[in-house]
Amino acid sequence: MFSAFNGIGQKGACCEGLEKDLITMVNLNGQVVLVTGASSGIGKALAGMCSEAGAKVALTARRPDRLEETAAGCSGETLVLPGDLVAEDHRKALADQCIKRWGRIDILINSAGLGMYGDFLSSTEALWRRLFEINLFSTVFLTREVLPHMQDRNQGLIVNIASIGGLIAHSGNVTPYVASKHAVVGFSRGLAMDLKGSGIRVLAVCPHLTSTEFFEVSPGAEEMAPEVEKYKTFMDSPKAVARGIINQLDSERLVVFPTEKPATAYEKQRDL
Ligand SMILES: NC(=O)c1ccc[n+]([C@@H]2O[C@H](COP(=O)([O-])OP(=O)(O)OC[C@H]3O[C@@H](n4cnc5c(N)ncnc54)[C@H](OP(=O)(O)O)[C@@H]3O)[C@@H](O)[C@H]2O)c1
Repeated sequence: MFSAFNGIGQKGACCEGLEKDLITMVNLNGQVVLVTGASSGIGKALAGMCSEAGAKVALTARRPDRLEETAAGCSGETLVLPGDLVAEDHRKALADQCIKRWGRIDILINSAGLGMYGDFLSSTEALWRRLFEINLFSTVFLTREVLPHMQDRNQGLIVNIASIGGLIAHSGNVTPYVASKHAVVGFSRGLAMDLKGSGIRVLAVCPHLTSTEFFEVSPGAEEMAPEVEKYKTFMDSPKAVARGIINQLDSERLVVFPTEKPATAYEKQRDL
């Protein structure tokens, strides 16, 4: 399946500065990569690294100023497309604009997401729906916009940023988040099965605690702060996570752990 990729299937570092860090990366040179959640954290780090490796990157999230910052940190061609991924119009425009500009989308990275902290009974229906809108449905429906363009060329890669919480209940008081990320892993599994033999692969990336704005902007952030404080020194950096993802873009496994920490956590807790 991997060899069906044109360019994506060729291993090897393609730019000098990255050779030491990106040991087994696939060749991103000239690839068109659409990254959601590119204004912050893991999405921002992924956009910068893909660009450094020679990719043309389309960046989306709601905050235009922050997307411009990400673009300014990119070394290659960029397309800044601000908007809310919960809106159907924006998802359609994203795919259309990328195709208009570059004629194809080689890799879709669904990184936009939100956390939620608090005990189950105080989590409202509105919050559950808000969380699933961005964590699950924007991923599902943007993939539906992009996939036909990949199918036209019989090649592509869909990278869904799930979470270790998509495989296990990694922490207390995060039930809605764990449920939404299990759904992302389930969606990825089903889609990968449907796309078997098509030349289009799917990855479900499962990071562990990563030091990003996520812990400041997610509903329940204040209540979560003491917990976050305890684990601050244990967190991965968004760059380490992005590097781990890029190094495994050629993975034949569906579930990818970007660093050793989530892999260890999964081994310890998977019978929960
Ligand atoms: N941080 C962690 O510990 C951790 C661990 C495991 C998995 N993850 C997952 O990794 C992914 C990235 O998280 P992160 O840690 O990088 O968090 P982050 O720094 O808070 O980034 C989240 C991104 O999602 C975008 N976003 C949120 N709602 C959006 C909407 N309605 N429309 C468009 N964009 C939206 C935000 O941009 P705007 O606000 O500008 O729209 C931002 O760019 C998420 O899916 C998260 O669940 C994170």
